[in-house]
Amino acid sequence: RETPVALQEDGSYVISTYRELMDILHNPHLSSDVRHLSRPMEAAEGRGTPAFINLDPPEHDRLRRMAMRHFGPPHTPGLVAGLEPDLTATVGSLIDDFAGKEQIDIVDDFAYPFPVTVICHLLGVPREDEPRFHLWVNAVIESIDYNPKTDPKEKLENGRQATNELRAYLRGLVEERHSRPSDDLLSRLANDDGPDGRMTDEEIVATANLLLIAGHETTVNLITNGMLTLLRHPQMLQRLRDEPDLIVPLVEELLRYEPPVHIIPWRAAYSDVAVADTVIPKGSRIILMLASGSRDPNRFHDPDRFDPDRPDNQHLGFGSGIHLCFGGPLARRETQIALTELVRRLDRPGLVTDPPPYRRSPVLRGPIHLPVE
Ligand code: HEM
Repeated sequence: RETPVALQEDGSYVISTYRELMDILHNPHLSSDVRHLSRPMEAAEGRGTPAFINLDPPEHDRLRRMAMRHFGPPHTPGLVAGLEPDLTATVGSLIDDFAGKEQIDIVDDFAYPFPVTVICHLLGVPREDEPRFHLWVNAVIESIDYNPKTDPKEKLENGRQATNELRAYLRGLVEERHSRPSDDLLSRLANDDGPDGRMTDEEIVATANLLLIAGHETTVNLITNGMLTLLRHPQMLQRLRDEPDLIVPLVEELLRYEPPVHIIPWRAAYSDVAVADTVIPKGSRIILMLASGSRDPNRFHDPDRFDPDRPDNQHLGFGSGIHLCFGGPLARRETQIALTELVRRLDRPGLVTDPPPYRRSPVLRGPIHLPVE
């Protein structure tokens, strides 16, 4: 409230209020490309061809459009609807496996395996390779959060190595799909000539890698944060049992109230940029506190209250502007199905510890384990 734009010791700027965040997210003078930062960022180096989340127009727009043709709205609105039976079956079988257990861990037993199974299926990654994916994705995510002040350097090295292994593996799959295409996303990206031409193999690898990293841990945390919030609000849990349609606004409110992505760790100023009363110099790193913007009292009434009935809930859970989350429709539907089924099938679930243990990360927020009895 007092410092919407805060200058940090290392010369970066932290933005925390809704209006200023929206200004930044829609400002064409800001770049998502680390190469425009005047000080290099160690955690972003040595990771190969950048994916479109880290590119600016026109490259960003071209690659996003090409991926969208096969993945998401508006060109294939049927994709998520078509997946529905698969999503429900995967959730159902994970919950079947709880049978006979006195205590379950919502993270390990449910929220973790679900989205990775879905994204592997979409991309066309063989099921038997999924465990390797878990390990790679984990190492990459840990290294993205790397903090030179507190973390040992191995984390960064492990992340680079995992990125290289994951990319090499994806490259192998793309080559195979050129000669033996099937109906999965990798085959379509590898063989389709759309209005923007064809993606190069390295662009496909970078895109597939992005979809895996951006779509995995985020959804895990939304499902886990959702279950935790419901267990802390038993009346809401009961209401959801009685009114299943509540799930749609409830997931929107979760994205505002307990969002998995707390910050966007960088934008770079192409030129001097004025935000609120501050001029941010060219080349500066700007850190966007999305979660704080979604609880800005100047934008949301009684922001610390979990209220799925709130009107006009334009939260920042998926960002905004040209980089607005590409997987939003999928993540929403996965979480809606997951929470609906957990609430329907678990008999009087209760938290074992509150608060549960949290991952140590400034970017992603969510419990590392959520034991429930
Ligand atoms: C971008 C959040 C799930 C793919 C973003 C951004 C946010 C976000 C905040 C904006 C980043 C920026 O402006 O720099 C989330 C959350 C999710 C989720 C909270 C789950 C609850 C997914 C899924 C996928 C996905 C399931 C795909 C399978 C992407 C991609 C981008 C993106 C490709 C980059 C878009 C662009 O640069 O144009 N996401 N995401 N996300 N997300 Fe998600």
